[in-house]
Amino acid sequence: MQRILVTGGAGFLGSHLCERLLGQGHDVLCLDNFYTGSKRNISHLMGNPAFELMRHDVCFPLYVEVDQIYNLACPASPIHYQFDPVQTTKTSVHGAINMLGLAKRVKAKILQASTSEVYGDPDVHPQPETYWGSVNPIGIRSCYDEGKRCAETLFFDYRRQHNLRIKVVRIFNTYGPRMHPNDGRVVSNFIVQALQGRDITIYGSGEQTRSFCYVDDLVEAMIRTMGTGDDFTGPVNIGNPGEFTMIELAEKILTLTGSRSKLVFEPLPSDDPRQRKPDIALARGTLGWEPKVALDDGLRETIAYFRRIVAAA
Ligand SMILES: NC(=O)c1ccc[n+]([C@@H]2O[C@H](COP(=O)([O-])OP(=O)(O)OC[C@H]3O[C@@H](n4cnc5c(N)ncnc54)[C@H](O)[C@@H]3O)[C@@H](O)[C@H]2O)c1
Repeated sequence: MQRILVTGGAGFLGSHLCERLLGQGHDVLCLDNFYTGSKRNISHLMGNPAFELMRHDVCFPLYVEVDQIYNLACPASPIHYQFDPVQTTKTSVHGAINMLGLAKRVKAKILQASTSEVYGDPDVHPQPETYWGSVNPIGIRSCYDEGKRCAETLFFDYRRQHNLRIKVVRIFNTYGPRMHPNDGRVVSNFIVQALQGRDITIYGSGEQTRSFCYVDDLVEAMIRTMGTGDDFTGPVNIGNPGEFTMIELAEKILTLTGSRSKLVFEPLPSDDPRQRKPDIALARGTLGWEPKVALDDGLRETIAYFRRIVAAA
């Protein structure tokens, strides 16, 4: 049994991670300031004596005794991270400094939830971890992309300077139940629009591709990464290399929901990457991991969740 801190634990990915860690018999301290997360995501865990919830902002130092830290706190979708871009950078950078400081004090192992956005609008496909990225430092996505890049820098400097046991996972598009219904991400957007019988908005030609990883696969990979030996730091890509165009995704969602919504096309927002696909050779080799959940199966679970949300709204 380990005492494990999950920052951003009331969010989409964090709530699934807390659930899985509790299932493995650990003591879980879920920390969140509820910026984008919600108590509803973790209400089913509240009765568990091994689960504890703490309202706290990672921009401020924290003093707790733990063995492991998963640092997930950060708004993750453009709508949320662009709402208060200065706060977004602070959360990534000050949050990393504070959680690394905590890890150093209590000698905890610490994992950073980084992102495929560190690759920016990539010139290399698919992206291996050795690719340094092509990121605009002054654009509207930079608060997130550069904040996450700086957090990675801090993790590796704490490793070099203080010999901390660090792990960095670069997460590619992940979807599943408990995604925020209005976060502007493509999977939630399309599903909610389909369920409400509204037009499905596709930005650009719809030929740009994305890869989609189901949340259960992602959580499994994060836990395996935390379990690797101290010499393995990552960064390691976690995602599903299956590529789908936006039009293919929309059509799948129309079929699975039985919706008659129409596809409508709007201009592409600035800095939107044309293609993003993980190279997961390192995860396969080091973690013995690869995604198992097919897109249709994951979408069915996600649609079932959004049906309940839309019906209750
Ligand atoms: N979902 C994805 O596809 C994806 C892809 C790449 C990276 N990530 C990363 O994974 C992590 C979790 O993402 P998610 O999709 O679950 O997003 P989410 O918005 O559902 O979860 C983020 C959580 O962090 C909390 N939070 C935000 N700022 C905070 C602060 N200053 N102090 C404390 N808590 C704070 C939010 O309230 C929320 O509960 C993020 O770091 C994100 O960058 C996610």
